[in-house]
Amino acid sequence: MNVLVTGGAGFIGANFLRLLVPRHAEHRFVNIDALTYAANPKSLAPIEDAPNYAFERVDITDADAVTAAFAKHEPDMVVHFAAESHVDRSILGPKQFLRTNFEGTFNLLEACRGLWGENTEGKLFHHVSTDEVYGSLGAEGFFYETTAYDPSSPYSASKAASDHLVRAWHRTYGLPVKITNCSNNYGPLQFPEKLIPLMILNAHEKKPLPIYGEGLNVRDWLYVTDHCEAIWKVVLEGKVGETYNIGGHNEKTNIEVVDALCRLVAEETGGDAEALLALKKFVKDRPGHDMRYAIDASKIEKDLGWTPKETFETGMRKTVRWYLDNDGWVQDVRSGDYKKWIEANYGDRGGEK
Ligand code: NAD
Ligand code: TYD
Repeated sequence: MNVLVTGGAGFIGANFLRLLVPRHAEHRFVNIDALTYAANPKSLAPIEDAPNYAFERVDITDADAVTAAFAKHEPDMVVHFAAESHVDRSILGPKQFLRTNFEGTFNLLEACRGLWGENTEGKLFHHVSTDEVYGSLGAEGFFYETTAYDPSSPYSASKAASDHLVRAWHRTYGLPVKITNCSNNYGPLQFPEKLIPLMILNAHEKKPLPIYGEGLNVRDWLYVTDHCEAIWKVVLEGKVGETYNIGGHNEKTNIEVVDALCRLVAEETGGDAEALLALKKFVKDRPGHDMRYAIDASKIEKDLGWTPKETFETGMRKTVRWYLDNDGWVQDVRSGDYKKWIEANYGDRGGEK
Protein backbone atom coordinates (compact mmCIF):
# COMPACT_ATOMS: atom_id res chain seq x y z
CA MET A 1 0.00 0.00 0.00
CA ASN A 2 1.17 3.57 -0.70
CA VAL A 3 0.68 5.68 2.43
CA LEU A 4 1.00 9.44 1.99
CA VAL A 5 1.66 11.22 5.29
CA THR A 6 1.35 15.02 5.48
CA GLY A 7 3.31 17.00 8.09
CA GLY A 8 5.60 14.08 8.84
CA ALA A 9 8.52 16.33 9.80
CA GLY A 10 6.58 17.77 12.75
CA PHE A 11 6.18 16.39 16.25
CA ILE A 12 3.47 13.75 15.91
CA GLY A 13 4.03 12.97 12.21
CA ALA A 14 7.73 12.24 12.76
CA ASN A 15 6.98 10.00 15.75
CA PHE A 16 4.36 8.22 13.60
CA LEU A 17 6.80 7.60 10.74
CA ARG A 18 9.62 6.51 13.07
CA LEU A 19 7.26 3.95 14.56
CA LEU A 20 5.67 2.61 11.37
CA VAL A 21 8.26 2.79 8.58
CA PRO A 22 10.54 0.11 10.16
CA ARG A 23 7.54 -2.00 11.19
CA HIS A 24 5.81 -2.06 7.79
CA ALA A 25 8.30 -2.87 5.04
CA GLU A 26 5.30 -3.95 2.93
CA HIS A 27 3.98 -0.36 2.76
CA ARG A 28 5.62 2.59 1.02
CA PHE A 29 5.46 5.79 3.10
CA VAL A 30 5.75 9.20 1.42
CA ASN A 31 6.06 12.23 3.65
CA ILE A 32 4.99 15.58 2.22
CA ASP A 33 5.82 18.56 4.42
CA ALA A 34 6.44 22.27 3.79
CA LEU A 35 9.18 22.30 6.46
CA THR A 36 7.84 25.29 8.37
CA TYR A 37 9.44 26.55 11.59
CA ALA A 38 7.81 23.60 13.42
CA ALA A 39 9.53 20.92 11.34
CA ASN A 40 12.95 19.46 11.88
CA PRO A 41 14.23 17.16 9.14
CA LYS A 42 16.71 15.78 11.71
CA SER A 43 13.73 14.16 13.46
CA LEU A 44 13.56 11.82 10.46
CA ALA A 45 17.22 10.76 10.50
CA PRO A 46 16.48 7.22 11.78
CA ILE A 47 14.30 6.45 8.73
CA GLU A 48 15.57 8.74 5.98
CA ASP A 49 17.46 5.93 4.19
CA ALA A 50 14.76 3.29 4.60
CA PRO A 51 13.83 1.73 1.22
CA ASN A 52 10.09 2.15 1.94
CA TYR A 53 10.35 5.89 2.78
CA ALA A 54 10.48 9.05 0.66
CA PHE A 55 10.27 12.76 1.44
CA GLU A 56 9.02 15.64 -0.69
CA ARG A 57 8.84 19.27 0.24
CA VAL A 58 5.25 20.25 -0.57
CA ASP A 59 3.13 23.08 0.79
CA ILE A 60 -0.45 21.79 1.09
CA THR A 61 -1.81 25.29 0.41
CA ASP A 62 -0.41 24.91 -3.12
CA ALA A 63 -3.12 22.90 -4.90
CA ASP A 64 -1.00 22.22 -8.01
CA ALA A 65 1.90 20.91 -5.94
CA VAL A 66 -0.47 18.65 -4.00
CA THR A 67 -2.02 17.29 -7.21
CA ALA A 68 1.45 16.65 -8.66
CA ALA A 69 2.54 14.77 -5.52
CA PHE A 70 -0.61 12.63 -5.70
CA ALA A 71 -0.05 11.87 -9.39
CA LYS A 72 3.55 10.86 -8.69
CA HIS A 73 3.03 8.74 -5.56
CA GLU A 74 -0.50 7.41 -6.16
CA PRO A 75 -1.45 7.06 -2.49
CA ASP A 76 -4.00 4.46 -1.43
CA MET A 77 -4.18 6.14 1.91
CA VAL A 78 -3.53 9.63 3.28
CA VAL A 79 -2.77 10.29 6.95
CA HIS A 80 -3.13 14.03 7.37
CA PHE A 81 -1.09 15.61 10.18
CA ALA A 82 0.09 18.84 8.49
CA ALA A 83 -1.19 21.90 10.30
CA GLU A 84 -0.33 25.07 12.06
CA SER A 85 -0.70 23.71 15.59
CA HIS A 86 0.06 26.30 18.24
CA VAL A 87 -2.81 28.20 19.91
CA ASP A 88 -0.72 31.21 20.97
CA ARG A 89 0.63 31.65 17.44
CA SER A 90 -2.93 31.47 16.10
CA ILE A 91 -3.90 34.36 18.37
CA LEU A 92 -1.04 36.53 17.13
CA GLY A 93 -1.45 35.55 13.45
CA PRO A 94 -4.59 33.59 12.51
CA LYS A 95 -4.40 33.82 8.71
CA GLN A 96 -1.85 31.07 8.13
CA PHE A 97 -3.98 28.78 10.31
CA LEU A 98 -6.93 29.19 7.97
CA ARG A 99 -4.73 28.71 4.94
CA THR A 100 -2.99 25.54 6.07
CA ASN A 101 -5.62 23.92 8.26
CA PHE A 102 -8.71 24.75 6.21
CA GLU A 103 -7.56 25.40 2.64
CA GLY A 104 -4.75 22.82 2.87
CA THR A 105 -7.22 20.15 4.00
CA PHE A 106 -9.56 21.14 1.17
CA ASN A 107 -6.72 20.72 -1.35
CA LEU A 108 -5.95 17.25 -0.01
CA LEU A 109 -9.59 16.16 -0.10
CA GLU A 110 -9.88 17.36 -3.70
CA ALA A 111 -6.64 15.60 -4.63
CA CYS A 112 -8.02 12.34 -3.20
CA ARG A 113 -11.24 12.77 -5.14
CA GLY A 114 -9.29 13.57 -8.30
CA LEU A 115 -7.01 10.55 -8.00
CA TRP A 116 -9.49 7.95 -6.76
CA GLY A 117 -12.67 9.02 -8.57
CA GLU A 118 -15.36 6.38 -8.02
CA ASN A 119 -12.73 3.76 -7.37
CA THR A 120 -12.52 4.15 -3.59
CA GLU A 121 -12.35 0.47 -2.59
CA GLY A 122 -9.51 0.11 -0.04
CA LYS A 123 -8.79 3.84 -0.07
CA LEU A 124 -8.76 6.11 2.98
CA PHE A 125 -8.33 9.74 4.02
CA HIS A 126 -7.47 9.77 7.74
CA HIS A 127 -7.79 13.20 9.35
CA VAL A 128 -5.78 13.85 12.52
CA SER A 129 -7.64 16.36 14.67
CA THR A 130 -7.84 17.68 18.19
CA ASP A 131 -10.21 17.68 21.16
CA GLU A 132 -9.96 21.49 21.15
CA VAL A 133 -12.77 21.57 18.54
CA TYR A 134 -15.20 20.77 21.38
CA GLY A 135 -14.36 23.95 23.30
CA SER A 136 -14.00 24.14 27.05
CA LEU A 137 -15.35 21.97 29.88
CA GLY A 138 -16.20 23.04 33.44
CA ALA A 139 -15.09 21.00 36.43
CA GLU A 140 -17.22 18.00 35.40
CA GLY A 141 -17.90 16.01 32.24
CA PHE A 142 -16.04 14.72 29.21
CA PHE A 143 -15.82 15.23 25.46
CA TYR A 144 -17.64 12.47 23.52
CA GLU A 145 -17.62 11.89 19.77
CA THR A 146 -21.14 13.37 19.82
CA THR A 147 -20.23 16.56 21.72
CA ALA A 148 -21.19 19.70 19.75
CA TYR A 149 -18.32 21.71 18.28
CA ASP A 150 -17.61 24.97 20.13
CA PRO A 151 -14.03 26.06 19.35
CA SER A 152 -12.50 29.04 21.19
CA SER A 153 -9.22 29.90 19.42
CA PRO A 154 -8.35 30.59 15.79
CA TYR A 155 -6.40 27.29 15.91
CA SER A 156 -9.33 25.22 17.17
CA ALA A 157 -11.78 27.02 14.87
CA SER A 158 -9.57 26.21 11.87
CA LYS A 159 -9.31 22.56 12.93
CA ALA A 160 -13.09 22.40 13.52
CA ALA A 161 -13.63 23.82 10.03
CA SER A 162 -11.31 21.19 8.56
CA ASP A 163 -13.18 18.40 10.39
CA HIS A 164 -16.43 19.69 8.86
CA LEU A 165 -14.89 19.61 5.37
CA VAL A 166 -13.76 16.01 5.87
CA ARG A 167 -17.25 14.88 6.96
CA ALA A 168 -18.89 16.82 4.14
CA TRP A 169 -16.61 15.17 1.54
CA HIS A 170 -17.65 11.79 2.96
CA ARG A 171 -21.38 12.54 2.88
CA THR A 172 -21.46 14.38 -0.42
CA TYR A 173 -18.83 12.61 -2.52
CA GLY A 174 -18.61 9.27 -0.69
CA LEU A 175 -14.91 9.82 0.07
CA PRO A 176 -13.78 7.14 2.57
CA VAL A 177 -12.68 9.12 5.61
CA LYS A 178 -11.97 8.61 9.30
CA ILE A 179 -11.32 11.29 11.92
CA THR A 180 -9.51 11.08 15.25
CA ASN A 181 -9.77 13.86 17.85
CA CYS A 182 -7.00 13.60 20.39
CA SER A 183 -6.08 15.32 23.63
CA ASN A 184 -2.75 17.12 24.31
CA ASN A 185 0.32 15.13 23.28
CA TYR A 186 3.78 15.22 24.81
CA GLY A 187 7.02 13.35 24.18
CA PRO A 188 10.22 13.53 22.11
CA LEU A 189 10.49 15.84 19.05
CA GLN A 190 7.93 18.44 20.21
CA PHE A 191 8.78 22.02 19.29
CA PRO A 192 9.69 23.91 22.49
CA GLU A 193 6.94 26.52 22.19
CA LYS A 194 4.45 24.07 23.76
CA LEU A 195 4.06 23.82 27.54
CA ILE A 196 5.98 20.63 28.33
CA PRO A 197 9.20 21.04 26.30
CA LEU A 198 9.30 24.77 27.06
CA MET A 199 9.16 24.06 30.81
CA ILE A 200 11.72 21.24 30.67
CA LEU A 201 14.24 23.38 28.80
CA ASN A 202 13.60 26.55 30.82
CA ALA A 203 13.93 24.64 34.11
CA HIS A 204 17.15 23.00 32.91
CA GLU A 205 18.51 26.42 31.89
CA LYS A 206 17.24 28.11 35.11
CA LYS A 207 15.01 30.49 33.13
CA PRO A 208 11.55 31.70 34.31
CA LEU A 209 8.66 29.22 33.88
CA PRO A 210 5.78 31.34 32.48
CA ILE A 211 2.40 30.06 33.71
CA TYR A 212 -0.64 31.69 32.15
CA GLY A 213 -3.28 33.06 34.54
CA GLU A 214 -3.68 31.03 37.73
CA GLY A 215 -2.26 27.83 36.21
CA LEU A 216 -5.47 25.96 37.05
CA ASN A 217 -6.45 25.09 33.47
CA VAL A 218 -6.65 21.34 32.97
CA ARG A 219 -5.32 19.33 30.03
CA ASP A 220 -5.55 15.55 29.44
CA TRP A 221 -1.99 14.49 28.51
CA LEU A 222 -1.19 11.57 26.20
CA TYR A 223 2.28 10.26 25.32
CA VAL A 224 2.85 10.77 21.61
CA THR A 225 3.50 7.14 20.60
CA ASP A 226 0.25 6.10 22.29
CA HIS A 227 -1.49 8.60 19.99
CA CYS A 228 0.38 7.22 16.95
CA GLU A 229 -0.58 3.63 17.80
CA ALA A 230 -4.20 4.73 18.20
CA ILE A 231 -4.22 6.46 14.79
CA TRP A 232 -2.78 3.36 13.11
CA LYS A 233 -5.37 1.15 14.82
CA VAL A 234 -8.17 3.39 13.57
CA VAL A 235 -6.61 3.43 10.08
CA LEU A 236 -6.55 -0.38 9.97
CA GLU A 237 -9.61 -1.35 12.01
CA GLY A 238 -11.84 1.73 12.44
CA LYS A 239 -15.10 2.15 10.54
CA VAL A 240 -15.17 4.40 7.50
CA GLY A 241 -17.07 7.63 8.15
CA GLU A 242 -16.58 7.40 11.92
CA THR A 243 -14.89 9.62 14.48
CA TYR A 244 -12.82 8.30 17.39
CA ASN A 245 -11.78 10.34 20.43
CA ILE A 246 -8.32 9.53 21.80
CA GLY A 247 -7.24 10.52 25.29
CA GLY A 248 -4.94 9.61 28.12
CA HIS A 249 -7.07 9.71 31.31
CA ASN A 250 -4.30 11.98 32.59
CA GLU A 251 -6.02 15.17 33.63
CA LYS A 252 -3.63 17.63 35.25
CA THR A 253 -3.67 21.33 36.02
CA ASN A 254 -0.84 23.25 34.40
CA ILE A 255 0.64 23.88 37.85
CA GLU A 256 0.70 20.14 38.54
CA VAL A 257 2.48 19.54 35.22
CA VAL A 258 5.10 22.24 35.83
CA ASP A 259 5.73 21.07 39.42
CA ALA A 260 6.17 17.46 38.24
CA LEU A 261 8.58 18.58 35.51
CA CYS A 262 10.69 20.66 37.94
CA ARG A 263 11.04 17.64 40.22
CA LEU A 264 11.91 15.32 37.32
CA VAL A 265 14.49 17.69 35.85
CA ALA A 266 16.06 18.06 39.31
CA GLU A 267 16.12 14.25 39.78
CA GLU A 268 17.56 13.54 36.35
CA THR A 269 20.27 16.22 36.63
CA GLY A 270 21.06 15.92 40.36
CA GLY A 271 19.77 19.50 40.81
CA ASP A 272 17.79 21.25 43.53
CA ALA A 273 14.01 20.85 42.97
CA GLU A 274 13.12 23.79 45.25
CA ALA A 275 15.33 26.13 43.21
CA LEU A 276 13.58 25.04 39.99
CA LEU A 277 10.10 25.36 41.53
CA ALA A 278 11.01 28.93 42.50
CA LEU A 279 11.38 29.75 38.77
CA LYS A 280 7.57 29.59 38.30
CA LYS A 281 6.20 32.93 37.22
CA PHE A 282 2.49 33.73 36.77
CA VAL A 283 2.04 35.84 33.64
CA LYS A 284 -0.83 37.42 31.70
CA ASP A 285 -3.44 34.84 30.68
CA ARG A 286 -4.09 33.65 27.13
CA PRO A 287 -7.21 35.32 25.65
CA GLY A 288 -10.07 32.81 25.28
CA HIS A 289 -8.09 30.29 27.35
CA ASP A 290 -10.07 27.03 27.53
CA MET A 291 -10.46 25.91 31.15
CA ARG A 292 -10.53 22.16 30.91
CA TYR A 293 -10.20 19.38 28.32
CA ALA A 294 -11.06 15.76 29.15
CA ILE A 295 -11.66 12.94 26.70
CA ASP A 296 -13.99 10.01 27.02
CA ALA A 297 -12.03 7.40 25.04
CA SER A 298 -14.39 4.49 25.66
CA LYS A 299 -15.35 4.12 21.96
CA ILE A 300 -11.80 3.40 20.75
CA GLU A 301 -11.11 1.33 23.88
CA LYS A 302 -14.24 -0.84 23.47
CA ASP A 303 -14.52 -1.05 19.68
CA LEU A 304 -10.82 -1.34 18.81
CA GLY A 305 -9.19 -2.49 22.05
CA TRP A 306 -6.77 0.47 22.22
CA THR A 307 -5.38 1.61 25.56
CA PRO A 308 -2.39 3.87 26.24
CA LYS A 309 0.82 2.13 27.33
CA GLU A 310 2.51 5.02 29.12
CA THR A 311 1.35 6.55 32.38
CA PHE A 312 1.91 10.24 33.10
CA GLU A 313 4.89 9.31 35.31
CA THR A 314 6.64 6.98 32.82
CA GLY A 315 5.93 9.23 29.84
CA MET A 316 7.08 12.42 31.55
CA ARG A 317 10.33 10.84 32.73
CA LYS A 318 11.09 9.56 29.21
CA THR A 319 10.33 13.01 27.80
CA VAL A 320 12.54 14.85 30.28
CA ARG A 321 15.37 12.39 29.60
CA TRP A 322 14.95 12.83 25.84
CA TYR A 323 15.25 16.63 25.98
CA LEU A 324 18.27 16.41 28.31
CA ASP A 325 19.96 13.91 25.98
CA ASN A 326 19.21 15.69 22.69
CA ASP A 327 20.76 19.10 22.97
CA GLY A 328 21.76 19.03 19.29
CA TRP A 329 18.13 18.68 18.19
CA VAL A 330 17.06 21.43 20.57
CA GLN A 331 19.73 23.86 19.37
CA ASP A 332 18.77 23.06 15.80
CA VAL A 333 15.12 24.10 16.22
CA ARG A 334 16.06 27.16 18.24
CA SER A 335 16.71 29.16 15.11
CA GLY A 336 16.24 32.90 14.71
CA ASP A 337 12.55 32.24 14.22
CA TYR A 338 12.24 30.57 17.62
CA LYS A 339 13.92 33.51 19.34
CA LYS A 340 11.58 35.93 17.55
CA TRP A 341 8.59 33.87 18.67
CA ILE A 342 9.62 33.81 22.32
CA GLU A 343 10.00 37.62 22.19
CA ALA A 344 6.63 38.14 20.40
CA ASN A 345 4.66 35.83 22.73
CA TYR A 346 6.24 36.52 26.10
CA GLY A 347 7.65 40.04 25.53
CA ASP A 348 4.45 41.88 26.46
CA ARG A 349 3.09 39.41 29.04
CA GLY A 350 5.22 41.25 31.58
CA GLY A 351 6.46 39.90 34.85
CA GLU A 352 4.01 39.06 37.59
CA LYS A 353 0.34 39.01 36.56
P1 NAD B 1 3.66 20.42 14.54
O1 NAD B 1 3.38 21.89 14.51
O2 NAD B 1 4.74 19.90 15.41
O3 NAD B 1 3.99 19.92 13.05
C1 NAD B 1 3.23 20.32 11.96
C2 NAD B 1 3.93 19.87 10.70
O4 NAD B 1 3.13 20.28 9.58
C3 NAD B 1 5.31 20.47 10.51
O5 NAD B 1 6.23 19.50 10.06
C4 NAD B 1 5.09 21.54 9.43
O6 NAD B 1 6.24 21.77 8.61
C5 NAD B 1 3.96 20.91 8.63
N1 NAD B 1 3.20 21.94 7.92
C6 NAD B 1 2.68 23.09 8.44
N2 NAD B 1 2.10 23.81 7.46
C7 NAD B 1 2.21 23.08 6.31
C8 NAD B 1 1.81 23.29 4.97
N3 NAD B 1 1.15 24.40 4.60
N4 NAD B 1 2.09 22.32 4.06
C9 NAD B 1 2.74 21.20 4.41
N5 NAD B 1 3.18 20.96 5.66
C10 NAD B 1 2.91 21.90 6.61
O7 NAD B 1 2.25 19.75 14.88
P2 NAD B 1 1.94 18.41 15.69
O8 NAD B 1 1.88 18.73 17.13
O9 NAD B 1 2.83 17.32 15.20
O10 NAD B 1 0.44 18.14 15.22
C11 NAD B 1 0.17 17.30 14.08
C12 NAD B 1 -1.33 17.21 13.90
O11 NAD B 1 -1.94 16.66 15.07
C13 NAD B 1 -2.02 18.56 13.68
O12 NAD B 1 -3.01 18.40 12.71
C14 NAD B 1 -2.63 18.90 15.03
O13 NAD B 1 -3.78 19.70 14.88
C15 NAD B 1 -2.98 17.51 15.53
N6 NAD B 1 -3.02 17.36 16.99
C16 NAD B 1 -1.96 17.79 17.75
C17 NAD B 1 -2.00 17.60 19.12
C18 NAD B 1 -0.84 18.03 20.01
O14 NAD B 1 -0.96 17.98 21.23
N7 NAD B 1 0.30 18.41 19.45
C19 NAD B 1 -3.10 16.99 19.73
C20 NAD B 1 -4.17 16.57 18.90
C21 NAD B 1 -4.11 16.75 17.54
P1 TYD C 1 -0.05 24.31 24.94
O1 TYD C 1 1.11 23.37 25.12
O2 TYD C 1 0.13 25.54 24.14
O3 TYD C 1 -1.25 23.43 24.38
P2 TYD C 1 -2.83 23.82 24.17
O4 TYD C 1 -2.99 25.27 24.31
O5 TYD C 1 -3.08 23.36 22.78
O6 TYD C 1 -3.58 23.03 25.20
O7 TYD C 1 -0.55 24.75 26.37
C1 TYD C 1 -0.97 23.80 27.35
C2 TYD C 1 -1.48 24.57 28.55
O8 TYD C 1 -0.39 25.28 29.15
C3 TYD C 1 -2.52 25.63 28.19
O9 TYD C 1 -3.48 25.69 29.24
C4 TYD C 1 -1.72 26.93 28.15
C5 TYD C 1 -0.64 26.69 29.19
N1 TYD C 1 0.66 27.36 28.95
C6 TYD C 1 1.27 28.12 29.97
O10 TYD C 1 0.71 28.26 31.08
N2 TYD C 1 2.47 28.69 29.73
C7 TYD C 1 3.12 28.56 28.53
O11 TYD C 1 4.22 29.14 28.36
C8 TYD C 1 2.51 27.78 27.50
C9 TYD C 1 3.17 27.61 26.16
C10 TYD C 1 1.27 27.19 27.76
